[in-house]
Amino acid sequence: DWTPDQFVETTVADLQNQLGNDKVVLGLSGGVDSSVAAMLIHQAIGKNLYCIFVDNGLLRKDEFETVLDSYRHMGLNVKGVDARDRFYSALAGISDPELKRKAIGRVFIEVFDDEAHQLTDVKWLAQGTIYPDVIESVSVKGPSATIKSHHNVGGLPDFMKLKVVEPLKALFKDEVRLVGKTLKIDDLILTRHPFPGPGLAIRIIGDITPQKVAVLQEVDHIFISNLRKSGLYDQVWQAGAILLPIQTVGVMGDERTYENVVSLRAVTSVDGMTADWAHLPYEFLANVSNEIINKVKGVNRVVYDISSKPPATIEWE
Ligand code: XMP
Repeated sequence: DWTPDQFVETTVADLQNQLGNDKVVLGLSGGVDSSVAAMLIHQAIGKNLYCIFVDNGLLRKDEFETVLDSYRHMGLNVKGVDARDRFYSALAGISDPELKRKAIGRVFIEVFDDEAHQLTDVKWLAQGTIYPDVIESVSVKGPSATIKSHHNVGGLPDFMKLKVVEPLKALFKDEVRLVGKTLKIDDLILTRHPFPGPGLAIRIIGDITPQKVAVLQEVDHIFISNLRKSGLYDQVWQAGAILLPIQTVGVMGDERTYENVVSLRAVTSVDGMTADWAHLPYEFLANVSNEIINKVKGVNRVVYDISSKPPATIEWE
């Protein structure tokens, strides 16, 4: 019978054999898989694991700092890289969802390659690939797919010529979480909702500006922290907010306003392949809506997405 303790024990021993004194580089995303992979390899080889965590400017409010802090508390050798401006420049003027994904994938590879070059003698690239990623090689979304499509254009970036180590390749998500618990990874990381690699870029319909990102971060933060406060966070698979590129009329005191609409989205699901809109309590939605409109400058209307997947998708782009 498979147990997380046993998995950790044998995997750490295998990694020690495989890696010896070699240096390994790994990109952390803040998600479960890369974090668990990092902790496993860290147990095996300690400071020879070099982690890179990139701020692409498209993360949730304060997430970069908070997650970087957790990684450091976990003892990881991690470098935080502020690459926000590089991503914003690459995204300027782009509205098409697939072009956004391509631009983000490309800049991520450039940034990661630059960082990897600053480390000398790295032999391995570690990845948090899990079993569903392996079998869904046809999937068109996700950072690994972005890297794959990049393969065909021009030469490979140098870090992609490294030998690859993927300690979670045989595990399902629930097993990864159990392994993470055994490794004492923060609950903040282990129980976190899925979050797309392109981040808030695909929740801002139309072009991306740092100002729009800032507005959406505030809205998202109000929504997510209320879900946590109300004990609803763990009952939904994923939640977030979408900034719509339309203005509507509202009133504030005696003033007429003409400002943006945001949509809230929360779904229940087992694997993200199909999803039902979450039937959140009206009272809860009313409170969140009021708080958003009262606190976030630039937003005067909140709607709730009641579409299920299929035919809608979880993300709007
Ligand atoms: P959809 O919108 O297709 O999303 O119903 C299903 C799940 O995949 C996530 N998602 C992405 N994840 N890169 C990612 O890493 C992407 O480009 C991407 N697009 C969607 C989405 O958040 C949901 O969990």
